[in-house]
Amino acid sequence: MALLNIIILAILSLVLGSAKIPQVEGRAFFVFGDSLVDNGNNNYLTTTARADGPPYGIDFPTHRPTGRFSNGYNIPDLIGQYYGLELVLPYLSPELSGNKLLGGANFASAGVGILNDTGIQFVNIIRIYTQIDYFLEYQKRLSDQIGAENAKKLVKESLVLITLGGNDFVNNYYLIPYSPRSRQFTLPNYCTFLISEYRKILQRLHEVGGARRVIVTGTGPLGCVPAELATRGKDGECSLELQLAASTFNPKLTEMLIGLNKELGSDIFVAANTNQAHMDFISNPGGFGFETSKIACCGQGPYNGIGLCTAFSNLCSNREKYVFWDAFHPTERANKLIVQQLVNGSTFYMNPMNLSTIKILDSWA
Ligand SMILES: *[C@@H]1O[C@H](CO)[C@@H](O)[C@H](O)[C@H]1NC(C)=O
Ligand SMILES: *[C@@H]1O[C@H](CO)[C@@H](O)[C@H](O)[C@H]1NC(C)=O
Ligand SMILES: *[C@@H]1O[C@H](CO)[C@@H](O)[C@H](O)[C@H]1NC(C)=O
Repeated sequence: MALLNIIILAILSLVLGSAKIPQVEGRAFFVFGDSLVDNGNNNYLTTTARADGPPYGIDFPTHRPTGRFSNGYNIPDLIGQYYGLELVLPYLSPELSGNKLLGGANFASAGVGILNDTGIQFVNIIRIYTQIDYFLEYQKRLSDQIGAENAKKLVKESLVLITLGGNDFVNNYYLIPYSPRSRQFTLPNYCTFLISEYRKILQRLHEVGGARRVIVTGTGPLGCVPAELATRGKDGECSLELQLAASTFNPKLTEMLIGLNKELGSDIFVAANTNQAHMDFISNPGGFGFETSKIACCGQGPYNGIGLCTAFSNLCSNREKYVFWDAFHPTERANKLIVQQLVNGSTFYMNPMNLSTIKILDSWA
């Protein structure tokens, strides 16, 4: 009798259990980082680091500004499209609720860096540790929506993108001559410090989510952006100092990610060499159908590299011909070319594997 009861109970709990927990497909995408990947969180904050006025978004499907620092799509949008995902919503968007939570969320905030003291001039931005706290809050909301087990599975099987580092140079170390950080550290020592702080951030991200794949981009070619050509470069040459910063930081980042993977016994972290992908068409714009890699499409002053891109700025008519949209950020077309390298590139661009390999390995196909 006791045995029969146990069997009945077991069957009942199986039936009830499977009725209560619907199967949820692991198809979520999470984004962390700075303006290269922010898709609108800063619209909800009191900060000068924003892209919510025209002509931002001029080539977006709605032709309206969204908060993306691009004329159209940015890199996370294009990665999402490659995996067949819906556009991910900014975490602060009121639209991100109910079933929309299942697609993931974008926690990025323009102006932030690896260090807490990066971007302080932008006042009210979501620093990286707060982005991770929001990720925890998100998981709680997701659990309420689909149950703890499903939420855990969805996050584990998700894809993560994190882009940080550029602001730690441009908006910290090199922001002003004799900045506190530049008096504290030589460039190589600053890079070592940044990498050790970045390592802690990635470990924390791994602890709180455990996503099986995390794409980590290095910095872009900081010295070649129109803002630096206008203020530091001589005769349109890239700023050597900032190029040295990028070429010191990026290889150390790759090395650190390889070390983390070894420690975790799994290829969770993937180093994306966006610097090289971007440099390819800065060195040879004509080879990729660009007219210029020096002049921003939107801006003013030399190379359109001074100040913000606003409705009063110069605006190029053919955005397809420009590498840079504003003084710091690539055009949609440049983003597409970068993502092509992330999808199909060799280990030189994507270490240890590219997005097409990830698509197969993690069954996103
Ligand atoms: C940055 O802030 C976070 C959370 O506020 C803190 O845990 C971390 O130690 C800080 N990092 C540094 C280098 O001070
Ligand atoms: C990647 O390469 C494949 C095969 O060569 C090609 O069909 C595809 O269009 C490429 N994808 C991208 C995004 O470049
Ligand atoms: C990257 O993608 C292509 C397919 O487009 C593949 O042939 C190549 O082996 C991949 N490389 C790595 C390192 O995964």
